[in-house]
Amino acid sequence: MPATTLPTPAGLQITPRDRKFGRGEQLTRLWHGGRVEATAIYNALSTTFPVGEAFFVESVRAFREGTPATLAGEIRAFTTQEAIHSREHDAFNRRAIDAGYDLSRLEAQIEKRLAVTRSRGPFVNLAATMALEHFTAILAHQLLANPRHLAGADREAAELWRWHAVEEIEHKGVAYDTWLWATRDWPRWKRWKLKAKVMLFITRNFVVDRTAGALELMRQDGMTGAKAWALLFSYLWLRPGMFRKIAGAWLRYFLPGFHPWNEDDRHLLAAYEASAAKAAAPERKVRRAI
Ligand SMILES: [Fe+2]
Ligand SMILES: [Fe+2]
Repeated sequence: MPATTLPTPAGLQITPRDRKFGRGEQLTRLWHGGRVEATAIYNALSTTFPVGEAFFVESVRAFREGTPATLAGEIRAFTTQEAIHSREHDAFNRRAIDAGYDLSRLEAQIEKRLAVTRSRGPFVNLAATMALEHFTAILAHQLLANPRHLAGADREAAELWRWHAVEEIEHKGVAYDTWLWATRDWPRWKRWKLKAKVMLFITRNFVVDRTAGALELMRQDGMTGAKAWALLFSYLWLRPGMFRKIAGAWLRYFLPGFHPWNEDDRHLLAAYEASAAKAAAPERKVRRAI
């Protein structure tokens, strides 16, 4: 691998946490603090995960033959994590459907985009996965670093999003390292050009499709026109402004020597584990008392 990139931290463990969320519980329709726009954008994102993450796995696994042992192990752990994410977001999406939403238009749009990407061959698929994994990692960072994003959300739904965010950070280097391995014989310029081109294409589609998806779900809640646009724009770009807050991290993808782990955010993983241990502690005390 080129000396200009920092590898995934040596001691990092990618640990699939096989958890289930909200089974048997009814999801409140406006589960995100009663807010139409917040619920809509998270539901639109969740709709992408079951098929999207299956695509990530397939794109990375296409290059796993002959990878060094450490990377091969990381690909296995990544595959397991993404498979469980797909399962849990599928369950979450079914609960959103039970709450009254029709996700079929959003799902059809995702399938359409995936069909176009798939037709472009394995290197473009891997570059698309790498770009989307960067998106998920920087969204995940924001979600964990700034409690405002999930403030007021249904407890179990918020838990699902935090759990997913943690694992996205944990495996954020896997698609990228697979790419560095798969293109190790490419000239630097060729590598950067494809990576940058695909990122721009993916970004345009991501912003357009998630915005359209969220507006469609807001329409299903009876909110349309300028009011819907203004609410969604303000939520995504102003307060809490998720898209604005990830803009700097998004731009760094284009810098020479970029690697997802140049931003070492393992402190967010440690904070999550510490709060999970704290939450489990009273339960253990009760058990000991019994
Ligand atoms: Fe995931
Ligand atoms: Fe991922």
